Amino acid sequence: MNTIHYVGVDDAELQLFESQYAVPDGMCYNSYLVEGEQIAIMDSVDTRKTDEWLYNIQQALRDRKPSYLVIQHMEPDHSGSVNAFIHKYPQTTIICSAKAQVMLAQFGITPPAVQVVKENDILDLGGVTLRFIMAPMIHWPEVMMTYCVQEKVLFSADAFGKFGVYHADEDDWACEARRYYFNICGKYGAPVSIVLKKVSAFTIEAICPLHGPVLEGERLQEAIRLYTIWSSYEPETDGVLVAHASIHGHTAQAAEKIAEMLRTKGCKKVAITDLCRDDMAEAIEDAFRMSKMVVCASSYDNNVFPPMHMFLWKLQQKGYQSRTVAIVENGSWAPSAGREMRALLETMKNITIIEPIVTIRSSLSQDNYNQLETLTNLL
Ligand SMILES: Cc1cc2nc3c(=O)[nH]c(=O)nc-3n(C[C@H](O)[C@H](O)[C@H](O)COP(=O)(O)O)c2cc1C
Ligand SMILES: [Fe+2]
Ligand SMILES: [Fe+2]
Repeated sequence: MNTIHYVGVDDAELQLFESQYAVPDGMCYNSYLVEGEQIAIMDSVDTRKTDEWLYNIQQALRDRKPSYLVIQHMEPDHSGSVNAFIHKYPQTTIICSAKAQVMLAQFGITPPAVQVVKENDILDLGGVTLRFIMAPMIHWPEVMMTYCVQEKVLFSADAFGKFGVYHADEDDWACEARRYYFNICGKYGAPVSIVLKKVSAFTIEAICPLHGPVLEGERLQEAIRLYTIWSSYEPETDGVLVAHASIHGHTAQAAEKIAEMLRTKGCKKVAITDLCRDDMAEAIEDAFRMSKMVVCASSYDNNVFPPMHMFLWKLQQKGYQSRTVAIVENGSWAPSAGREMRALLETMKNITIIEPIVTIRSSLSQDNYNQLETLTNLL
């Protein structure tokens, strides 16, 4: 890729991406310089890293000047440094979609020149051609992707992105890409499928996302395979996620027991998550990944313990569907968690609930052990 140069930045110190996702390996905001007779910069970066980004551009430009800044996505982790860029290179024309143009003003960005592009429009840099592909609702409405015709490279905006600095998890793209996908794009499976279909008409030798590494070769094929599964809401793995929210530990104990029973019965893959303590985004990811789930929660004020409520509400928001779910509740006087979990699950599409709900009264009884045996046989 001698016409495409990386000018993005790592943000290793970031703790919470989008103020909610733990990023133990930091984050990166990717940006690329595309060099024809004229030069285009692909996207800016978060305000946290403006100076470093401008420095990288200057180094890559040598004594040349950029003609275009392509904005594929207006979310501030990518548009945050546009104003600084315009200030430094005022002769640059911004290239973006019509919806992005509206957002420019909303974010207080008033560039001297904007060129709005639509589906299949072409930008000729002289020897290098960029073609624009609209990608609305991945995961904002103004998003577009860009195909570099000569290099057969797809700039995919946030699609195919992941958490972590650029070189994090060199050998395992899927783990943090999956957590990123289901939490950030999960709700938008249909638009993701549409754009995957559109870009399948192009020969793609590399994907350059806005977060995470460039995908080429086998890793590129694997990423497309996984995105096809994920965007269809099909389970990726035949297995069970046991998710629990327990005030004093008895429900957690039941969840551990369920996981143990499932393993003993030869269930291929069992994951367990403590919704009060573990990473909620990872629990969401695992729920989508697995074909089945068991939800276990304490009753709380004639409702369900809030961490479980939050989990199921988030799953509903993200479009969780077409899965088999078993319910285990605990209550000391009038158990209500099961009813509330069922009500939340019933708002989701095509969920099969395994009957009956198992009710624990404070701590596991011998009857409960037998009920859990029966329940796990049905999973
Ligand atoms: C603030 C609070 C509210 C509770 N509300 C209910 C309730 O509405 N109905 C009920 O049966 N138990 C209720 N409980 C009792 C717990 O649900 C019960 O002791 C718990 O399920 C035991 O399991 P655990 O050890 O996993 O928390 C409540 C407990 C607390 C601390
Ligand atoms: Fe985004
Ligand atoms: Fe992003």
